[in-house]
Amino acid sequence: MANLFETQLLGVTVPLKNRIVMPPMTRTRTSEGDFPTDGDLPNELVATYYGQRASAGLIIAEATDVDQSGHGYARTPGIHSEAQMQGWRLVTDKVHRQGGTIFLQLWHVGRMAHSSILPNRQAPVGVTGQRAEGSSVFAHGPDGRLGYMPAETPRPLSTDEVSAMVGTFAKAAANARKVGFDGVEIHAANGYLIDQFMNSVLNTRTDRYGGGSMENRTRFLMEVVDAVVAEFGPGRVGVRLSPFGKYNSMPPEPLAEETFLYLAEHLGRRGVAYIHLLYELMPEGNMETAEFKPRHLDHVLLAKARAVFPGAFIWCGGFNDRKRAQASLDTGLVDLIAFGRPYIANPDLADRLKYGWPLAVADRSTYYTRRGELGYTDFPIYPIGRAARPAA
Ligand SMILES: Cc1cc2nc3c(=O)[nH]c(=O)nc-3n(C[C@H](O)[C@H](O)[C@H](O)COP(=O)(O)O)c2cc1C
Repeated sequence: MANLFETQLLGVTVPLKNRIVMPPMTRTRTSEGDFPTDGDLPNELVATYYGQRASAGLIIAEATDVDQSGHGYARTPGIHSEAQMQGWRLVTDKVHRQGGTIFLQLWHVGRMAHSSILPNRQAPVGVTGQRAEGSSVFAHGPDGRLGYMPAETPRPLSTDEVSAMVGTFAKAAANARKVGFDGVEIHAANGYLIDQFMNSVLNTRTDRYGGGSMENRTRFLMEVVDAVVAEFGPGRVGVRLSPFGKYNSMPPEPLAEETFLYLAEHLGRRGVAYIHLLYELMPEGNMETAEFKPRHLDHVLLAKARAVFPGAFIWCGGFNDRKRAQASLDTGLVDLIAFGRPYIANPDLADRLKYGWPLAVADRSTYYTRRGELGYTDFPIYPIGRAARPAA
């Protein structure tokens, strides 16, 4: 059975030093670039944060806009401008100098957006014109101040625009490769654009990306995967899925299991390195308040998915100790365990888990604060480990 601290070869090409993953987490510590040309920019502080966490087997850097129309939350980065690429280069250099491996999560928010942070105050775009009622994004209010604002009514993308968006993802992947990322993760979870297309209730389109058939509603993801794999090579592309997710006002999916198994098979055929499974039912609310509860993994369903997907499975959600993580690996159904919130306050999480050192807990009010290093890069490593670590 795999041990949490054992190496793993991801996608045949990417060696990982352990099976501990830092999953993508938006932290809103970017710098403001020229709007709308540059978008928000990764910076030295962001590089320090990821560099501190380089002892994870795999870091998946936070959700990153593939273009300006995909920008749903103020102070979240993109990878579509030169200035952003330079910012990300600081990050990949720092992580690699510390011996880490880092992928970038590619993101388009679709309808989870607000005109106040979109170019020319344009409306968000979506799979249909259906608004994410009851869900909010981080944008400017009528008084110009940043805060949680209701997601606005989207304009449905035309068929040609969806096809063009595939190229946008490919360009973003090419940019990620140029600035040194080891791979990319396609964000197809949590009610964002790709997930919006895959949902059989929300997707009422009638074109070739329409919800009437499995093939059509998963077509956008599959085309994105093909295009991104062509840029990066098959072993360096992962996909994040939340098959049972209701986050961001996603309607419950009556065909969740069927869709998940179809995706596993077809992503497997395309040489996808891993499926990053956010298995729990994510509650409504934002990440600061959401309660993520440990959830029993449906062994029967996962065993079926494993039989048709040759890559790795990452399981994320509610892990905060070594024992439960190892027990999940011991099922033989998953290969890597992601620890989200524990990574916020424990830059040396891998060592703390290995040596049984206690975990620090972050103050939730600093998850998305604009107060720079506070609650971001100011968590110390555990004292006993300090001597054994290379200087940052
Ligand atoms: C502050 C914060 C930001 C997050 N940002 C993202 C993100 O950018 N992309 C994503 O796919 N998930 C995001 N998530 C979800 C996490 O990746 C993870 O799935 C979730 O926190 C549950 O795992 P945990 O119980 O280990 O924290 C975020 C979660 C938190 C707490």
